[in-house]
Parts: sequence; C-alpha cells; structure tokens
Amino acid sequence: MDKLLIRGGKRLSGEITISGAKNAALPILCAGLLTADDLQLSNIPHLQDVSTILKLMRQMGLRVTEDGDRVTLNGGDITKLEAPYELVKTMRASILVLGPLLARFGEAKVSLPGGCAIGSRPVDQHIKGLQAMGAEITIEAGYIHAKAKRLKGARIVTDMITVTGTENLLMAAVLADGETVLENAAREPEVADLANLLVAMGARIEGIGSDHLVVQGVDKLHGASHAVVADRIETGTFLCAVAAVGGDVTLKNTRSNFLDAALDKLREAGVILTSGDDWIRVQMAARPKAVNFRTTEYPGFPTDMQAQFMALNCIADGTSRVTETIFENRFMHVQELNRLGAAIDIEGNTAIITGVDKFIGAPVMATDLRASASLVIAGLAAQGETLIERIYHLDRGYDRMEVKLSSVGADIERVK
Ligand code: EPU
Repeated sequence: MDKLLIRGGKRLSGEITISGAKNAALPILCAGLLTADDLQLSNIPHLQDVSTILKLMRQMGLRVTEDGDRVTLNGGDITKLEAPYELVKTMRASILVLGPLLARFGEAKVSLPGGCAIGSRPVDQHIKGLQAMGAEITIEAGYIHAKAKRLKGARIVTDMITVTGTENLLMAAVLADGETVLENAAREPEVADLANLLVAMGARIEGIGSDHLVVQGVDKLHGASHAVVADRIETGTFLCAVAAVGGDVTLKNTRSNFLDAALDKLREAGVILTSGDDWIRVQMAARPKAVNFRTTEYPGFPTDMQAQFMALNCIADGTSRVTETIFENRFMHVQELNRLGAAIDIEGNTAIITGVDKFIGAPVMATDLRASASLVIAGLAAQGETLIERIYHLDRGYDRMEVKLSSVGADIERVK
C-alpha cells in the first residue's frame, strides 16, 4: 500500500492548477444514465472515486470513452439496472444511480451504502422523496429495489438538507410526469453544476442555486457538453496548506466566490488573499491566529474543510473551538494530529484546540479523505519527517496531490 513521506518546513511558492470537483463530477457522470445520446464532459478530475463510478457505468452497459480530463458517456444501450454492494460499499456516491435509473427505466436495484467512517449516513431521504413521486420501494437482503411505471411530480420537503439526496431527487424529477418542487434543497455549487448540466440536456429547472427547486418533467433528455466546476474543497485544502507552512501560491482554474465562509476564516487567521475571476493568490508570512468556526451547509463553513482548517488551528497563536454539525463522527483526524504534537480535546461535537508552536513529524494513519488531507498539511508544516499510511483515502478525492504540492516546493513523495 502506498504511503506519503513528507519532510516538513519547506515554504511553498508558485502556481497550482485546481481540478474539477469530485462532488460535482460524480453526480454528473451518473446523469449519463438519463439519456441515450452522448454526454461530453470535461474537467473530470483523476480520482479513484471517478474510476469507481466509471466502472459502475461500464457494468451497467454505458459506453465510456476517456481522453485526459474528458469523458464521453453513451447510455444508448444500458443492460443492467443495478449497483452492487461491492462498488457501493467503497463509494457511497454510487447511490446517485438510483434516481436516474428509476426515472428513465422504471426500475433500479441499488445496494444500501451502510455506515462509513464519518458517521452512519442513512439514505432515508432519498427513499422518502422517490416514494412521494410514486415509486414502490422495498428493502431486501441489503438492497433497495425501486419500481415505478413513470414517476409523478410531487412536493418534497426533506427532513434535513442533503446534498446527494437533492441530486438524486433532481435527476428523478427531470423525467417525471408533471411538476416537482424540492424544498429544503441543498444549495452547494456542485448541486447547481449538476442542475446546469441537466438544463443543457433539455431539463426544465427553476431556482438553481437556491433551496427551492421547481422541475417540470420532460419525456426525454438529449446529449450535451459540460465542463465540471472547479473543486472548492481542493482549493481550500491548498489555501490551508500555504497558511500553515507559509509562502506565496496562486491557485488557477478556480473561483473565490464559492468558498466565502472559509476565505473569511482564513483572513481572520492572518492570511492575505487576493483573487480574480478564475484564480486565488494566497500569501502567508506570519504564524496563524486561532479561529473559531462551526460547520454548516452551504454557504456556511463546509464540513469537508473542517479537518484541514483544524490542522492550521493546531499551530496557531491562541485557543480555538471547532464545532462539527453535519456528521456525528468527523473527528478521527484529532488523534493523529495529536500524535504530531497538537493539543486537541474533544467535548461532544466540539474540538478545543490549544495552539502549539509546531508539529513534530511522526508516522500517522489516514482514516478518511479529508482527515488524510489534514495530515498532509500537518506534515508539510512539521519539523522532521512524517509518514502517512493508508493514503488510498487521499487518492479517492485528490487529483495527484503530492505532484501538485511538489511543484510548489514541498518535499513530499509517494513511497510503495
Ligand atoms: N442524512 C440523512 N438521511 C439522508 C441523507 C442524509 O440522515 O437520507 C444526513 C447525513 O447522515 C448527514 C447529513 O444528513 O448527517 C448531510 O448529509 P448529505 O446527504 O448532505 O451528505 P452526502 O450527500 O452523503 C455529500 C458529499 C460529502 C459532504 C456532504 C456534506 C458527495 C458525493 N459527498 O455527502 O463529501 O461531506 O455532502 O456536504 O457529494 C467528501 O467529499 O469528503 C465528502 C464526504
């Protein structure tokens, strides 16, 4: 299994190009199930999760052509309406085939995802919404079996804001009979990116980017071309890395206006940020200041940035409180950060972080995707060597992270 070896303390400077967003690419690839025409996608990131979803698409009978960051899908000959446990257990986002399969073919069999490292993460809202649209759903031997002659438009109010839940119901509604209203919809930019693609495919959706989506179902969708939005979490991760280590780096092919909450907190920590239409420059010369924050749904501070920002707080001047409100168990990085010399205590869903002067390198273990990123940031800032094991978690969601970091001066290498 691959590991990352980091020799910390190297200032970062130069340019990094940001990849397409994982959490937009995954639902967008599933939208290939909604049409028999070609879907031409670009800015698809090189990630393990993308390979997994493409494997699933191929198993279902889609034709997949890959060329660098471009992927063309053709769903003209889909033969299998099933997402098996073997794939769903490695990637929860596979649940995103449920809505499109049911909407276009009237049938789907998808494994229940089960729990995962960051929490129990049920999919009851996906199921409740599809049932409201007339689907008959049974759960048998760990699989969701869904059937519907044709889904019918409905008014759906989810109990909580759910990102993939909104995406699944949106992909179901675009081919349903009549009007669907999704209340309490997730407003994440990745949901809007999917909605914009669906509109390009002929869907009729109003309220994109808001928590109130109104969909007029159509009989059929056609092919389209679409470039996936930039990854705001990859962007934020590199911003935190420069903030922790010091340096001057420009991130290209990205935007600042979908990361406002995290950028405000970085400014509070003393980071200098400037930005244009498609770039952000980050400069940091001083020790960061401790900053309190609380994760919430978009446009609040993203849970997917909590671990990375916590690494910064660990070596900041002062004490900070970080509260996680989205997932019940998203503090697994805490013990590993403490192994690197941090001083973090947990009280319920709040971490209390007393800033220390520096991290000291040590062997650590990655436990989930964003936890791994926080360990990379800590390793880059640490004195001495840090060896991170189980980086397959990192490869699921970051496009060649060590290559990008090396290009701006980090001493980081992948060891077998
Ligand atoms: N929830 C339910 N029932 C449901 C759906 C959600 O109880 O039917 C709960 C979840 O357990 C959680 C909360 O609602 O406590 C929000 O979960 P959500 O459904 O929004 O999460 P998700 O759609 O499974 C996506 C991202 C995650 C990201 C969250 C929150 C994708 C593929 N995944 O997950 O990304 O953390 O939204 O923003 O879009 C990551 O990239 O590292 C990652 C975990």
